[in-house]
Amino acid sequence: GDGLFTYDPGFMATSSCQSAITYIDGGQGVLLHRGYPIDQLAKHSNFVEVCYTLLFGDLPNDEEYADFQARIRNHTMVHDQINNFFKGFRRDAHPMSMLCSVTGGLAAFYHDHMNIKKEEDRVISAVRLIAKIPTIAAMAYKYSVGQPFNTPRNDLSYAENFLYMMFATPSEKYTVNPVYANAMDRIFMLHADHEQNASTSTVRMAGSTGANPFACISAGIAALWGPAHGGANEAVLKMLDEIGDDSEENIQRFIDKAKDKNDPFKLMGFGHRVYRNFDPRAKVMKETCDEVLEELGLADDAQLKIAKRLEQIALEDDYFIERKLYPNVDFYSGIILKAMGIPTNMFTVIFAVSRTSGWISHWHEMLSDSYKISRPRQLYTGHDQREYPQK
Ligand code: SDX
Repeated sequence: GDGLFTYDPGFMATSSCQSAITYIDGGQGVLLHRGYPIDQLAKHSNFVEVCYTLLFGDLPNDEEYADFQARIRNHTMVHDQINNFFKGFRRDAHPMSMLCSVTGGLAAFYHDHMNIKKEEDRVISAVRLIAKIPTIAAMAYKYSVGQPFNTPRNDLSYAENFLYMMFATPSEKYTVNPVYANAMDRIFMLHADHEQNASTSTVRMAGSTGANPFACISAGIAALWGPAHGGANEAVLKMLDEIGDDSEENIQRFIDKAKDKNDPFKLMGFGHRVYRNFDPRAKVMKETCDEVLEELGLADDAQLKIAKRLEQIALEDDYFIERKLYPNVDFYSGIILKAMGIPTNMFTVIFAVSRTSGWISHWHEMLSDSYKISRPRQLYTGHDQREYPQK
C-alpha cells in the first residue's frame, strides 16, 4: 500500500531506465560510449562523429558522416528574433542564465509542427540543438562583452566555428589557432555524455511528460549549472585563484578545509558519485592540459602548478584515499579553457554545449521505446491528518 516504497535519496542504488548509450564501471575507471573507450574516441574521433555515434548507436561511415555534418551545418544559424532575447538581459548576466533561457525559448520556434513520436522529428530536433547551442553560447559571451554577434561559419569545423564565433571581431581578420581548436574539440568529446548524471536524468524526467525537447534541454542546462555538477569547472578555477600559489601551507590549508566536516567547502573537481577509481576523462584532460600549455609556452602556469601540487597532496592524504576521491573531468578542463582566453563564467556553458549531444541522445532513446512518466514517491514526514479550526 501507500508508504511501502524503497527509500533511496540521491538515487544511490536506483536504475531509472535502460540505456544502450554509455557504460561506466566506476570501480575500474572505465567509460565507453556505444562500446568505444573514451580515451580512444578522444584520440581518434572528433566531436561531430561522437555526436552521431551517441545519437544513432554506431560510428558513421564516410557518407553518413558527411551527411550528418552537412545537416548540422545547415542549422547553425538562429532565427533573427533570437537576437532580441539577449537584449532583455543585463550585460553582466551569467551566461548560463542566458543559455538556459534562450535554449528554452527555442521551443517557441519549433513547437507547433513537431511530433515527438516521429523519429524524423526527433532527429531534426537533435540536429537543431547540436547545431545551434554553440551559436547561442557564443552570443551569450559576445553580449556580455558588448561585441556584435558573429554569424556561424560553416566552412569551419564544429570547434573552430565555436572559437570563431567567440573571438572574431569585425575589425580584424581572425584565424583559429589549431592548438586551441584541437583542445576545444577534445573538451567537447570528453564531456559529451555520462549516462544518468543529474542533468541527463533531469532531461529524461522532463521528456517523460512529453515536453518539447528544447524545453527539456533547458531543464538539463539548469541542472548542470550547480557547483556539485557542471558548475565545478568554474569553481575549480575560483578555488585555484583563492589558493594563490603552490606553497605547501596554502595548499594544505585548503585540503584541511575540505576535510573539515564543520566546513561546507569541498575540493572542487574532486570526487564522483560513480568513479571510485580515476575518472578516465580526467586522465585525458590532464594530458591535454600539459600538451596545450606546453605548445602555448605556458608550461610554468601558476594555476597549473597549484593544481598539480594539490592533486598530489590530496592523493597521498588518508581522507581522500579512504573515500576514494580522485580528480574528476572538471579538475583540469578549466586550466585549458583559461589558457585559451575563455572567461571563467563560460566554462559551464561549454560543458552544456557538449553535453547537449548526450542529453538529446538520451531523450531520443527514451522516446524510441516504451517509457513511463517519471514519478517517484516519497516518505512522508509531515503532520497526521488534523482538523481545520472552525471559527
Ligand atoms: C560532474 O554524475 C556524473 O556523471 C557527473 C559528471 C558528468 O559528466 O555528468 O561526471 C560531471 O558533475 C563531475 C563532478 C563535479 N563536482 C565537483 O567536483 C564538486 C566536488 N565534488 C563533490 O561535491 C562530490 O564528490 C560529488 C557531488 C561529485 C559526488 O557526491 P556523492 O556521490 O554524493 O558523494 P558524497 O558527497 O556523499 O561523498 C562521500 C564522502 C563524504 O565524506 P563522508 O561524509 O563519508 O565523511 O566523500 C566526501 C564527502 O564529504 N567528499 C569530499 C569531496 N567529495 C566527496 N570531501 C572533500 N572534497 C570533495 N570534493
